[in-house]
Amino acid sequence: MSVRGVFVAFEGVDASGKSTQARRVAARHDALFTFEPGDSVLGVELRRWLLDAAIPMDPETEALLMLSDRSHHARRVIAPALAQGRSVVTDRYYPSSLAYQGYGRGVDLARLRAATELAIDGCLPDLVVLLDVSLEVANERRARDHEDRFESADLAFHERVRAGYLELAAHDVVPWVVVDANLEQTDLDARVDDALAALPWTA
Ligand code: TYD
Repeated sequence: MSVRGVFVAFEGVDASGKSTQARRVAARHDALFTFEPGDSVLGVELRRWLLDAAIPMDPETEALLMLSDRSHHARRVIAPALAQGRSVVTDRYYPSSLAYQGYGRGVDLARLRAATELAIDGCLPDLVVLLDVSLEVANERRARDHEDRFESADLAFHERVRAGYLELAAHDVVPWVVVDANLEQTDLDARVDDALAALPWTA
């Protein structure tokens, strides 16, 4: 009988370095690397609509499209891999919707949580790693060409998202670790590895 794999979600504002960390950690532990929105055939279509700044959309509609992508991703990609004993590292998961659509756009958090339960059906991570970066550092790192729906949002939105993440980290149903992502890459790698060392990785 195979044991369920380890499931870790990386979170943070755009340009926090989470994608680099998630890929590195997945490779190190021979885990499945995956991401949201868009890491499935259906998800590619949803991501295209979601990021297109030229398609006007209400925050609730945006939230429900994110949740459609997440539901498909959790049920068809993440849960089956974990059930087979494979570990999974995802670049974004349900905290992104709470932070961006909830704290950022003002969608009701209680209803968002209820819809999240329906979407993910109990597929919760063992740990959420929040890469917390100041908006000054994130702005310096961010490429300015072809900004998507989220990159083109104002500074106050990104401030709310960052503050929302920190509040979630303190009160969420699963454990979180907050890592200072203003650090240089090698220091950040070491901090992230320390934070993940106690998990029961199989590789
Ligand atoms: P992502 O591909 O992770 O881009 P980045 O490298 O810029 O972080 O995510 C694309 C955008 O989608 C990002 O700006 C955050 C946003 N997003 C939400 O608003 N809600 C969600 O639930 C998810 C998964 C992403």
